Amino acid sequence: MSSLGGPRPAAGEQPGARPHLWAAGGALLLCGLAVLLGWVWLRWHRACGIPPGPKPRPLVGNFGHLLVPRFLRLQFWLGSGSQTDAVGQHVFLARMARVYGNIFSFFIGHRLVVVLNDFHSVREALVQQAEVFSDRPRMPLISMMTKEKGIVFAHYGPIWKQQRRFSHSTLRHFGLGKLSLEPKIIEEFRYVKEAMQKHGEAPFSPFPVIGNAVSNIICSLCFGQRFDYTNQEFKRVLDFMSRGLEICLHSQLFLINICPWFYYLPFGPFKELRQIERDITCFLKNIIKEHQESLDASNPQDFIDMYLLHMEGEKKASKCSSFDEDYLFYIIGDLFIAGTDTTTNSLLWCLLYMSLNPDVQITTSVICWLRAPVCPGWRTRAKVHEEIERVIGCDRAPSLTDKAQMPFTEATIMEVQRLSMVVPLAIPHMTSEKTVLQGYTIPKGTVVLPNLWSIHRDPAIWEKPDDFCPHRFLDDQGQLLKRETFIPFGIGKRVCMGEQLAKMELFLMFVSLMQSFTFALPEGSEKPIMTGRFGLTLAPHPFNITVSKR
Ligand code: HEM
Repeated sequence: MSSLGGPRPAAGEQPGARPHLWAAGGALLLCGLAVLLGWVWLRWHRACGIPPGPKPRPLVGNFGHLLVPRFLRLQFWLGSGSQTDAVGQHVFLARMARVYGNIFSFFIGHRLVVVLNDFHSVREALVQQAEVFSDRPRMPLISMMTKEKGIVFAHYGPIWKQQRRFSHSTLRHFGLGKLSLEPKIIEEFRYVKEAMQKHGEAPFSPFPVIGNAVSNIICSLCFGQRFDYTNQEFKRVLDFMSRGLEICLHSQLFLINICPWFYYLPFGPFKELRQIERDITCFLKNIIKEHQESLDASNPQDFIDMYLLHMEGEKKASKCSSFDEDYLFYIIGDLFIAGTDTTTNSLLWCLLYMSLNPDVQITTSVICWLRAPVCPGWRTRAKVHEEIERVIGCDRAPSLTDKAQMPFTEATIMEVQRLSMVVPLAIPHMTSEKTVLQGYTIPKGTVVLPNLWSIHRDPAIWEKPDDFCPHRFLDDQGQLLKRETFIPFGIGKRVCMGEQLAKMELFLMFVSLMQSFTFALPEGSEKPIMTGRFGLTLAPHPFNITVSKR
């Protein structure tokens, strides 16, 4: 029969071998064609005036080398992967800006990514062209984990607006940014102080207690409950969360954006990520279920209660509403994760910088004099402890109303935020239509990374950007300077929704701890690596501290 359709097998050839050869040849041809098309497509893109960048490879873009096992990798343009993992992608991208300019691009698979490394391009994109630059990427890794629901990764549009407006006003109802939340924060930090005092003069890691305390604030707003520092289940959830944020930008997980089925691989970061997702989902779903069972419509206690009631109201009023249980789950997840890890890391960085800069904690005229050349006027500046003593004293609890009289303390927190930049690449944005940014064409669907870290280390904006110098946020009279280039919470329509809460927490928690203790690194210990552990957030490397009571 084969003689009818195809060429006859040659003498000595197995019957049926030819069709296999034809099939293999066809497959090869198709692959070749796909590579060629990919190549033409990438070259065409570059020719269209997109920002400059390294040469992509067909199909895989600039991340193809990650498909090769680490020990076999040659040095492609992004290094072996270990280079980016070691310094953090934000530093690596800032270094690339020196080669390609402040706006440059690369490809993940066929997806164009544009990195904005300076304040002007970030402001032009996120503020002046906010309608175009405020969407979030439709990328497999993000879509699989978030279903593109919630607030953080939801698409820019009417549903995101409704959900964000409702969430923000509900959190405000429960005290976000208001004096009514103060007692809760102060109370929580009483527990922290007790826990710290138990260590006496011995060194300890501040990570678990600070993480638990910060999380308890968002938990009491959202779930109406706090978790004891000895609660092992909660501790596990917090550990999972910070691990999840650390690995989610792991270079291997980027591969999911090229081949989505990698998500289901039964090993390495893929398996770990799925396990983390399962555990956090289970924890949050249980809490929502408990709320549904005990809901008292006349007396809503927290965010979940308010959302459930709003959901019911919307259901009664109209048939199509974006308020549903699924959305509630993702919003709660967003608030819990965004509200815990960011503020925890900021506070940990504060403790680390305080331990490394005793002259900021206490007045030591010799140290101040020595530092004067680095940070002019240093010697004459009030120090954090002095300010606390003068404005608050030793017995009274701090209040937000003290803030206006404590510019040095505020400048110190801001300087720690500037240097640590806990959300170094913000959260990826996406263009919703084709546009032009500073002369470059940015096509619709481009992923945009605002490199906040590089803005806050830009020598054109900050004198000696790598030095710790709270004074840069003060004017000649010692009053706080509002600097428009200081944007740790991002800018534009997607600016952090928890900015007021975070500022409030940072001030009250930092002052509360500094009022009670002097922090130091254990004697003889090595200075911790200050680059941070890169993930979606930038956490300090593990360190121990000692506290002495004041
Ligand atoms: C020091 C602490 C914090 C820092 C530095 C920080 C920083 C940021 C940054 C840089 C973004 C991304 C902005 C962008 O996409 O351009 C963001 C988004 C967000 N943050 Fe925060 N954040 C902090 C605390 C919080 C807290 C306590 C909450 C909880 C209420 C929160 C909730 C959110 C939400 C919901 C978004 C997504 C907003 C949206 O996409 O519309 N953040 N944050």
